[in-house]
Amino acid sequence: DLLERITELEHLFTVDASKLKEVMNHFVKELEKGLSKEGGSIPMNPTWVMDYPDGHEEGTFLALDMGGTNLRVCEIILPKEKGEFEIIQSKYKMPEELKTGNSDELWEYIADCIQQFIEYHHEIEELEDMQEHIPLGFTFSYPATQEYIDHGILQRWTKGFDISGVEGKDVAELFENALKKRKLPIKLSALINDTTGTLIASHYTDETMQIGCIFGTGCNAAYMENVGSVPKIAHYNLPPEMPIAINCEYGAFDNEHVVLPRTPYDVIIDNDSPRPGQQSFEKMIAGLYLGELFRLVLVDLHDNKDCQVFENQDISKLRKAYTLDASFLSMIEEDPFENLSETGDLLQRVLGVKANKPELELCRRLAELIGTRAARLSACGVAAICKKKNIETCHVGADGSVFNKYPHFKARGALALREMLDWPKGTKDKVSILPAEDGSGVGAALIAALTIKRVKEGN
Ligand code: BG6
Ligand code: GLC
Repeated sequence: DLLERITELEHLFTVDASKLKEVMNHFVKELEKGLSKEGGSIPMNPTWVMDYPDGHEEGTFLALDMGGTNLRVCEIILPKEKGEFEIIQSKYKMPEELKTGNSDELWEYIADCIQQFIEYHHEIEELEDMQEHIPLGFTFSYPATQEYIDHGILQRWTKGFDISGVEGKDVAELFENALKKRKLPIKLSALINDTTGTLIASHYTDETMQIGCIFGTGCNAAYMENVGSVPKIAHYNLPPEMPIAINCEYGAFDNEHVVLPRTPYDVIIDNDSPRPGQQSFEKMIAGLYLGELFRLVLVDLHDNKDCQVFENQDISKLRKAYTLDASFLSMIEEDPFENLSETGDLLQRVLGVKANKPELELCRRLAELIGTRAARLSACGVAAICKKKNIETCHVGADGSVFNKYPHFKARGALALREMLDWPKGTKDKVSILPAEDGSGVGAALIAALTIKRVKEGN
């Protein structure tokens, strides 16, 4: 019956402290492997961001943020001295059909959005008179191999994207070609990842921030490494103590399935995704997959003859893949009523099913299990970076819809860190994951400014 099923699910989805430690220890080794000449499954991409800002970066910059759901264009004015920056921005929806379309459609759409933004915020004459092009930081939140900062070959699409003709190509070039056609007075200065932007923007406002993380549609982190600890870039002959930001791309952790406690539902998600075998860690914890995990469990319980959940009801809506997103689970976890009446209304409204009390309780427990597992496993990546770098205390800047909106995510992650890093009971957290400054706006502008400075100084 249902109670037995709940116990089984608890068993499947619970990650205890000893498993967390095992995951963290394996993670440390994999981070190191990714930096080595041989490489591993975590890309550990050098970003060519070679320093933190010193607070004197100034000027007007554009930032383009291409994440999983929205496209955002910003204009940022950095002040002479560190302080209040000015920012204006517009958001454009990433049309669903674009995510599985082709390369031209993508770049045309992006260039259209930028053109709209520029023409709305600037007079035509002003644009024509512009002597210098406005520098732009492009936050492209997918794994890219960079040989220099305004270049980046897309390794593979992640987060369910499957746009043909981009993998293996330099996205900076594709983007610039689309800009050129429109003769926009813009120059791409830096191609960055959202985690790198988050790291740099967070450190600008709080110097104890040493890691930038995203817990959103995808999951990933960036941190500052020393060149000497990155054997795969030894051939550049840079000073070993020079800092370089590394975009881990650790959503790809454990693609070999050595340590992560995968359930049969995780296996289905992977098999049915556009890139099976990739992003194993991310597929268990990131926002894109949380609702889908929940859906797969419910469909299984309905079809399973021993315990028919939503018995004799039409569950055709529930059968549609990716019909539920993480906000659906958030709402269930946030239902304040003991009789779970909001959950009942939600199930009826979204899925057209009527749930009885035990079914409502099962849904609530299942959401808790999936949300808790996501937060606890997410913390392993942060703990592993701290361990690898021997960081005892620091702040971690975090952004993304799951971090900002999913109930209890922060507290669950903090508890997992405590368990993994063995802080004594009653003591304060040594590593705190805190809301970050806007990485893809301010971070991208700061990195563009740092790049221009480096070029001027001839480095
Ligand atoms: C946003 C950042 O706040 O969070 C983006 O501006 C980032 O750069 C995003 O990619 C991640 O969250 P989500 O939920 O949109 O994937
Ligand atoms: C995916 C992307 C990565 C990004 C993360 C968060 O893991 O591959 O580049 O940082 O999502 O948006």
